[in-house]
Amino acid sequence: MTNGLITRYHNWLGLPALTPVTLGEGATPLVHWADWDTHRIWLKLEGCNPTGSFKDRGMTVAVSHAKHEGASAVICASTGNTAASAAAYAGRGGLKAFVVIPNGQVALPKMIQASAYGAIILAIEGNFDQALTAVRNVAETEDWIALVNSVNPWRLRGQETGAYEILDDLGHAPAGFVLPVGNAGNISAYFHGFRRRGQGLPQMFGIQAQGSDPLVQGHDMDDVSTIASAIRIGKPASAHLAREAVAATRGQFRSVPDADILHAQRELAHGGVFVEPASAAAYAGLKMLYQEGRLPDGDIVGILTGNGLKDSTTAGLWAKVEPQVVPGESLLDAISDLMTH
Ligand code: F0G
Repeated sequence: MTNGLITRYHNWLGLPALTPVTLGEGATPLVHWADWDTHRIWLKLEGCNPTGSFKDRGMTVAVSHAKHEGASAVICASTGNTAASAAAYAGRGGLKAFVVIPNGQVALPKMIQASAYGAIILAIEGNFDQALTAVRNVAETEDWIALVNSVNPWRLRGQETGAYEILDDLGHAPAGFVLPVGNAGNISAYFHGFRRRGQGLPQMFGIQAQGSDPLVQGHDMDDVSTIASAIRIGKPASAHLAREAVAATRGQFRSVPDADILHAQRELAHGGVFVEPASAAAYAGLKMLYQEGRLPDGDIVGILTGNGLKDSTTAGLWAKVEPQVVPGESLLDAISDLMTH
């Protein structure tokens, strides 16, 4: 069944009656990963969405609404995943997609993906924040082109469905909730989603990458750097909402170094879960909070936002990609040898 999120959660989304633009997004696995003492760790695999990231939750709603309102094109700034998602849903809905990226700052597979769906990719010399300002100006001037960044309230409304699914799967709110934070839309959406459902709020922990952690530093940053290019953002557009989410739930913003991100990516992958670096940052943060005794008892949910294939070259920094060449007739010898090592 590929009904998608709008059909499933229509009563919670506040949308007018419309024809959904859907690719059957959502219903992603909530995997029981491990028990760490008094903490039951769950990972939500958002990379299982149709374009490989959580962005599809908001995009089905934003593009459906834009089409319903008569838009003929969508535009977004992106570090890659929003671009791919906007491109796919625009293609599905018969709209044109313009995606604006910070030049040289987006992982190649995401660019290929957006282009394959038929989007027009434009690059600006600058960072994500400057790209976002530029696309906001365009969308404010022209009413035929809809902005589908998470400053679009329909994007956030759609992303609330992640919280609905967790509540539906667990039957109650988790005690703790950990996710990576870049432009701060997703943490804000989850907060509103949990609040709207009225089944309690988890303690919310937003994880940033060191070198790109304005919410930890407490001020915007002009120069940002991290291996996790998806969350290389210095001026989060939804910073105020994210601060409210963390303050209201007595959570925290924390940041993790690139080395921990790569280590976390490897640990997850060796357990069968291949995610991109931004998502691995959440797991690195989860482990750090556990080691500090900072996690509440009970169910803890970590959101793994994007598929590892989205930024496969980064995984190539630690994953061995050169195969060991062996003669066919000595394959068994080679394998037996490797088994004992
Ligand atoms: N994880 C991944 C894989 C992302 O692509 C993003 C954001 C985030 C986490 C952070 O989510 O911005 O709501 O705090 N990517 C955006 C993009 C910026 O353009 O694809 P956020």
